Amino acid sequence: LMPNNLLIEGRDSGVQVLTLNRPEALNALNTELLGELSEALDNAEVDPEIRAVVLTGSQKAFAAGADVDEMASRDLVGILEDPRVAHWERIARFTKPMIAAINGFALGGGCELAMHADIMIAGENARFGQPEINLGIMPGAGGTQRLVRKVGESLAMHMALTGEPIDAKRALQAGLISEICQPELTLERAIQIGHSIASKAPIAVRLTKESVRKANDMSLADGQRFERHAFTILAGTADRQEGLAAFREKRKPRFTGQ
Ligand code: HXC
Repeated sequence: LMPNNLLIEGRDSGVQVLTLNRPEALNALNTELLGELSEALDNAEVDPEIRAVVLTGSQKAFAAGADVDEMASRDLVGILEDPRVAHWERIARFTKPMIAAINGFALGGGCELAMHADIMIAGENARFGQPEINLGIMPGAGGTQRLVRKVGESLAMHMALTGEPIDAKRALQAGLISEICQPELTLERAIQIGHSIASKAPIAVRLTKESVRKANDMSLADGQRFERHAFTILAGTADRQEGLAAFREKRKPRFTGQ
């Protein structure tokens, strides 16, 4: 079934590009869009051809938040039983590298979605914010949690309590994003990063992502133990042998995912 709010491209190149495509609402995240996104990630998860995913929006907006009209239609029980929660969890569980290419507005749920990516890069025109407080609500998809871990408490409090957005330069300085690009080049650069990752040994990539993620959930000692176990597991892979041999023989490695 063709999704209504998402363009899906690039699978054969190893880097799948998912483009949020609800221009009439600045890519506001309604249930249908989040459902299509989580389904696309389910497919990418099990497709061995896909080695990385790039998530992007338009030049004007990555996403301007959760769909306010839809949110307004839900009462307490409706929010409690919101099917979007399961979609958010699915996005958070994705095990392959995800790169967000952000231009324009990344506000509210849009900023939260971008923060689900492993690498965030943005155009000079990007604006990041958690404006929920202006609506009498608060972030609900990680905006008070991932943001603190990425930019620290002071800036996260400032953003979440005032709703004031930050620009790309500030986001870079604060560590929210890893690079700034010209807006026309953001997507191309994200795909290039995806291809770089796609050329590495798949199991090493998977365990590296998992291990870095653990740093937010674990004590240093437990995280270090997790890392060491993952490092040990890689000793059983053919790709490790290939990578080490290729270096010593001064040639490019040919990784097979074994
Ligand atoms: C539904 C939205 C929307 C949203 C924009 N639109 N954001 N529709 N939900 N979050 C719609 C507008 O209603 C408008 O539709 C069209 O998109 C274009 O938007 P404009 O406002 O006309 O554009 P502009 O003047 O350029 O202003 C851009 C903007 C503004 C500054 C981004 O749209 C804005 O403030 N949007 C809301 C941002 C926000 O508060 N996000 C947080 C939502 S709460 P029409 O039909 O009039 O043309 C949230 C909670 C997350 O995200 C919780 C997760 C669990």
